Amino acid sequence: MAVQLSPENLKWRERARKVAEEVVRPLAAKYDRLQEYPWEIKKAIADAGLMKVFIPPEYGGESGSILDLCIVVEELSRACGGIGVLFAVNALGSMPIVVAGTEEQKKRFLPAIARGEKLIAFCLSEKFAGSDAGGMHTSAAADGPDYLVTGEKKWTTNGGAADIYTVFAVTDPESKSRRISALIVEKGMKGFSIGKVEDKMGIRAVPVVETVFEGVRVPKENLLGGTPGLGFKHAMMTLDRSRPGVAAQGVGCAQGALEFAQVYTCRRQQFGQAISSFQMVQQMLADMAAKVEAARWLVYASASAVDSGAPDVTKLSSLGKFFATDAAMEVTTLAVQCFGGYGYMRDYPIEKYMRDAKITQIYEGTNQVQRMVAARALIRESNALSLLLDKYIPREVQRGVNDGTAPLPAPGSVPEATGSRPR
Ligand code: CAA
Repeated sequence: MAVQLSPENLKWRERARKVAEEVVRPLAAKYDRLQEYPWEIKKAIADAGLMKVFIPPEYGGESGSILDLCIVVEELSRACGGIGVLFAVNALGSMPIVVAGTEEQKKRFLPAIARGEKLIAFCLSEKFAGSDAGGMHTSAAADGPDYLVTGEKKWTTNGGAADIYTVFAVTDPESKSRRISALIVEKGMKGFSIGKVEDKMGIRAVPVVETVFEGVRVPKENLLGGTPGLGFKHAMMTLDRSRPGVAAQGVGCAQGALEFAQVYTCRRQQFGQAISSFQMVQQMLADMAAKVEAARWLVYASASAVDSGAPDVTKLSSLGKFFATDAAMEVTTLAVQCFGGYGYMRDYPIEKYMRDAKITQIYEGTNQVQRMVAARALIRESNALSLLLDKYIPREVQRGVNDGTAPLPAPGSVPEATGSRPR
């Protein structure tokens, strides 16, 4: 398997695995219990240079490759899903600047993130704007040289720990397609505060909070890309590039849970033999392994598509996200089953994998939204495909229905993929 990855990819895997095994795994249960930001782990991640992986070399990074990012997220998540996202969310926060920031913004913000000196968060969702991200209410009104940002954001992962926040807000309420812009808000700006801190089922090492903006004065230099109205597009372009990272978090959780199940089912004796000798347990192990491998290679394919600059990465990114994170839920649940009653107990390491995996099916776009996005792309593709294939599919004719009295749709005409928002 490894032969399909480059020596560079494998180096990132080795670097991340060292931190995961030496620092993350021994502390995973502690921070899951405490639900506190693990600054000692963040320091180890930064000291190992892992924050450089998602920043292009021109701005203080080392790789800038989404495949390398996925490899690092997978390795960290194999030891702890919470630490996987603690790390990956910085890529999510940085990606709008990487893909759409001005040269000045890239030089100003990215090097400190690459050095691990500053953390960044992504503020898109609101209480009443989750899947319908475009339905947000937080506003940013132009006021002389500044914008005044007012509103609240929900589910800000890394909130409180982060120094920089990429915030999406309505700058032109009258516009249909240019309503939203992104602004870079910095910790300490007057009127910006952290609201409710969530008490979560899983990923407990990383904070998820509400962020509150009470007339925060943000200079226009902090308008992402310098042109208003492109925020929704920038958010979508970011998610195309960050969703492989969530998918990799799912792969890591699944791989980690599978490995524990392998060890435990060989150790646990029942009826005078290791339970791994029973065919029903073997079937679980084999199914888990197949799902992990299939998920991993789809995620690597979607990440490589982004790296190669493929024009339409949206479909692959969504396919990888829902497939890998659904696999993560299935595999981690089976792993708990392999542990039997012990698997349900908090002093065993396995139930945490199931709790950490669950959120991956929800955040960065629910798996229902991913299927919708992928289906829209498939329907668009069918326009071209039907010119090639339509003639091979027989058309039925029924007397009195379509025997010439009622016109048939022309070959090649397929329904248009529509948006979810009424227009
Ligand atoms: N790249 C570039 N532009 C895109 C795009 C893409 N992938 N997808 C859509 N757009 C553009 C469209 O071209 C369109 O542009 P025009 O107006 O110029 O025509 C515009 O954006 C609107 O597109 P849609 O009509 O497709 O938008 P929609 O309102 O129907 O919904 C959606 C799109 C796919 C449902 C989107 O809202 C979505 O992805 N929702 C999920 C949101 C999400 O992932 N939230 C996660 C938050 S992050 C998080 O979870 C934080 C955390 O803690 C980790």
